[in-house]
Amino acid sequence: MIEVMNLSKSFDGVPVLKDISATFKTGCTNLIIGQSGSGKTVLLKSLVGLHVPDEGQILYDSRNFTEMHRKEKKSIRQEIGMLFQGSALFDYLTVEENVRFPLDMFSGFSLEERRERANFCLKRVNLENANHLFPSEISGGMQKRVAIARAIALNPKYLFCDEPNSGLDPKTAIVIDELIQEITREYDMTTIINTHDMNSVFGIGEHIIFIAKGKKQWEGSNDEILSSENQELNDFIFASKFFRKIMSGEK
Ligand SMILES: Nc1ncnc2c1ncn2[C@@H]1O[C@H](COP(=O)(O)OP(=O)(O)OP(=O)(O)O)[C@@H](O)[C@H]1O
Ligand SMILES: [Mg+2]
Repeated sequence: MIEVMNLSKSFDGVPVLKDISATFKTGCTNLIIGQSGSGKTVLLKSLVGLHVPDEGQILYDSRNFTEMHRKEKKSIRQEIGMLFQGSALFDYLTVEENVRFPLDMFSGFSLEERRERANFCLKRVNLENANHLFPSEISGGMQKRVAIARAIALNPKYLFCDEPNSGLDPKTAIVIDELIQEITREYDMTTIINTHDMNSVFGIGEHIIFIAKGKKQWEGSNDEILSSENQELNDFIFASKFFRKIMSGEK
């Protein structure tokens, strides 16, 4: 479980996160949704320590990250798998080398063990026989799988995914969402996913935080979202005319 308490962050005096409090549950997919520019990436980066919040606290299973020294923060970071916006693979490394990268950096395993673990992770994301290809030689969906395999290589307790579906066709996007949900349950991770994709919201939105202009506006599950009376949330969900028509039964 990750708890965020009264988190605020400004850049050059411009507030981007405003007094955000939220709890992200273990073993389920927690979604942060909101319009472009609402602060999703800044929030996720603050959780990992890539941004230092101006105020507030972040607790990883009751361990206060904000009050930790650099060394302790580093050890928490090793419990976090990250999938950045875009797949952010290393172009000059093969698929296997990309997945092995965090193991090479942090694990202390032998080369044989690292290769075995990389292959296990690649198999888990259903990507076999691609080990020696470079990112430019595989499809966008396959690149996401590699990025997921790399994110889980060190067996993380926490998995953060920033727009894991961006640039994928709707069908492949659902496959990736479901894969993230499956591994979250299988490894009992606390997973946080930034998205503005409505298919993801309804497909895997077990626990959803909606932020607008840096403020948390609503929290609930995908079952509850359509009956929400929060105006900003409704404007966000029904922004697509097509979607509004479907939901209202208009022709
Ligand atoms: N390093 C930074 N310095 C200054 N301002 C920043 C920085 N990073 C983000 N911002 C600002 O913070 C606001 C929130 O940005 P953020 O990237 O978190 O949005 P987002 O919700 O992730 O959007 P998107 O859906 O487009 O990825 C934006 O106005 C952005 O310009
Ligand atoms: Mg973003």
